[in-house]
Amino acid sequence: MSVQKATAIARANIAFIKFWGQRDAELNLPANSSLSMNLAGLTTITTVEFSPDYDDDLVSLDGREARGEARQRIVAHLDRVRAMAGLQVKARVISENSFPVGAGLASSASGFAALSLAASRAAGLALSERELSILARFGSGSACRSIPGGFTEWTAGTSSEDSFARQIAPPEHWELRDVIAIISRAHKPVGSIKGHALAPSSHLYQARVASVADRLAQAKAALLEKDLATLGPLIEEDAISMHAVMMTSRPPIYYWLPGSIQLIHQVQSWRAEGLEVYFTFDAGPNVHLICQAADQAEVERRLRDIAGMLEVIVSGPGPEARVVESF
Ligand code: DP6
Repeated sequence: MSVQKATAIARANIAFIKFWGQRDAELNLPANSSLSMNLAGLTTITTVEFSPDYDDDLVSLDGREARGEARQRIVAHLDRVRAMAGLQVKARVISENSFPVGAGLASSASGFAALSLAASRAAGLALSERELSILARFGSGSACRSIPGGFTEWTAGTSSEDSFARQIAPPEHWELRDVIAIISRAHKPVGSIKGHALAPSSHLYQARVASVADRLAQAKAALLEKDLATLGPLIEEDAISMHAVMMTSRPPIYYWLPGSIQLIHQVQSWRAEGLEVYFTFDAGPNVHLICQAADQAEVERRLRDIAGMLEVIVSGPGPEARVVESF
């Protein structure tokens, strides 16, 4: 074993066209392709060290020993890397997020992207970007989009080998901003794994899946042309379509809180006043406001004036997952 220890950094991402529902849960193949922007300011830095000195896998997340399901998901990912590398030894994983995980922001995209890169490198594997994206996909679907830099597209594909994310434009292509309004720090009522499984029980699911390809093609073209007036409504439509599926699943999942709806109305009235800003959501109540860099300060100012706003986090487009150090 030439390299035993490696540290990698990866960014979270915000999807403009969402992944919700799988064609194959085992392989984590999505029902549809998705489109996202890496978030420069939301990072996870992960160090993995394989050593015969460890009796068991040790996982530390933001300074605390991980237990239960959170640990199990990471150990399962280490097992994938061990199988690929033909390794038997246990590992120590130390992972730190730059953003508050309790804020309900998805840490699994940056987390599994950083873990895939650090663990594979520590195990002595030199995976291509495509191989890394496929590996990350097994940990968390959205993590495959955090491997390449900038604006990325995860092509649903037809098998595990062609279901991975590629860059469609580098971070410097467009100074877009994600201004994240944190209105709740409560844990999700239903995690994404269960949510994906429930999606097909919604009578709207097939209609959503059938409508994504067109929307994604239009969104991609608008993104490449830096045309926010076209991209924005598509981003909103896709987020609403995903939440409509969530709310009509059996049983239904309601991620929104009153403050989420309040912000939808707020964004519409700000737009009517000439401020070019659009909303989207992940599987949670917090609102991601998408605007151009020139409007960021104004969007931030207006959000901070809203009663009950807990925190506002701003991020521009971020780079690909990178190895920081390897030994
Ligand atoms: C709503 O299965 O990637 O964010 O592992 O919990 O991050 P986690 O979820 P994942 O599903 C992501 C669902 C989504 C939409 C998206 O990012 O495409």
